[in-house]
Amino acid sequence: MSRGWMHRALVFASVFAGVCDGSQQNTHATSITTAEPFPLLLRGDWFSWEEGREVDTSISEGWVESLGQPVDAAQLRRDTFQYVFSHHQCFVCVRLLVRSWNILEKLEGPCVSDAAAACRWLEGRRQSGVMLFRSDPTPINCRPALHGLFHFAWKNKFSFTGECNHPEAMVRSCQKPGSQFLIDSQTFTINFKKCEGVGNSFDALREYTCLGDWKVGRNHYFAVANTKESRREERYRCFVRDREDDLYMGLSITPECSVLKTPQSSPVKFRLSYAKHEIIPPGCYLPHNLTGKWESSGIGEAQVVINSTHITETMWRGYAAKTTTYTCLEQRGNRYLMAKQSIEGCQTEYVCWEMVPRHHNIVRYRVSWALIYQDFQVCDYANFRSGREWKYDTLIGEFMDW
Ligand SMILES: *[C@@H]1O[C@H](CO)[C@@H](O)[C@H](O)[C@H]1NC(C)=O
Ligand SMILES: *[C@@H]1O[C@H](CO)[C@@H](O)[C@H](O)[C@H]1NC(C)=O
Repeated sequence: MSRGWMHRALVFASVFAGVCDGSQQNTHATSITTAEPFPLLLRGDWFSWEEGREVDTSISEGWVESLGQPVDAAQLRRDTFQYVFSHHQCFVCVRLLVRSWNILEKLEGPCVSDAAAACRWLEGRRQSGVMLFRSDPTPINCRPALHGLFHFAWKNKFSFTGECNHPEAMVRSCQKPGSQFLIDSQTFTINFKKCEGVGNSFDALREYTCLGDWKVGRNHYFAVANTKESRREERYRCFVRDREDDLYMGLSITPECSVLKTPQSSPVKFRLSYAKHEIIPPGCYLPHNLTGKWESSGIGEAQVVINSTHITETMWRGYAAKTTTYTCLEQRGNRYLMAKQSIEGCQTEYVCWEMVPRHHNIVRYRVSWALIYQDFQVCDYANFRSGREWKYDTLIGEFMDW
């Protein structure tokens, strides 16, 4: 990790903290003045695609290259800045939304003669604006936007009719095997496969770097750069997923997000399905008196179902239920080495469950970090979150079969 990266990440985190929940309206951390109207987050060289052509925008602490120095500046929210620029005989209002360190969204009003009225046109506007892509981006983790291994079928409404559904077409957004866990990949790949009889479908392996993700209503957007493409017009793209049904995904064919109203109406649309997992035979039994349905007091309040050899854990993420299955592999005392397979997971991981049955309908338990090798060392106390500090979650029985 370079120092430059760390510095930018820290600036971003400290300036931007609290923006996601929108609850913090306290703006002292980023207050702006007309003398220094552009905070660090907005400064830099930006690329955008506007009305069919490439545009470069350079923002420094006091001015925007093509627009000059603003006559008025205001911070509307933590992530939203608004400026009025004088332009010949009239005034233009420009609103900048910070979508990530790498991505700004720009809304621009018409040029009007009354400076005080310039921003009125933008009030209450909900349409999406022009995306500005930072020229020297810092890649971010892809996991919040897209995580897992999927098969896909796809359509491109501008180049072919019908749907191309090839069994080997895959989307892969996974941590690199062997990399430190929880440090995830900043790129993902889409392996396009040509379909017999679907003209203009093609074979290609595309690799994308993640630049930022954000949510607007039901839509979850994320902006990417194609790593193998140097032409800027072809390099930057926008994806959208439906938060209520995240197996639908849309892609733009220009460096724009505003063309993506829903995944289904996007220029390129993907229908994802979860890739199948390898089948792992169980190697041990869980205590008979744990069989049944439980609710966890841990993060996410998972529903937990236990039978003689498996634990399934179901959690709601957004609008979708995600299930993780654990297969018992090896037991020593209260510790169970288990194979972990998430429905959207990329590979089998190994975790250790430690369970201390206590009451009739309460079990204290804790789960270790996930590792990628199968070895009872996973159950080493150092791999539990709190080390030798015994901090447990509890399972509360819903009803017991025994
Ligand atoms: C236990 O649950 C797992 C996962 O749901 C299932 O695959 C397995 O067949 C079940 N085993 C028994 C003995 O019911
Ligand atoms: C459950 O079974 C284990 C042995 O497998 C035993 O130690 C424990 O006391 C039992 N708990 C209850 C509540 O019956």
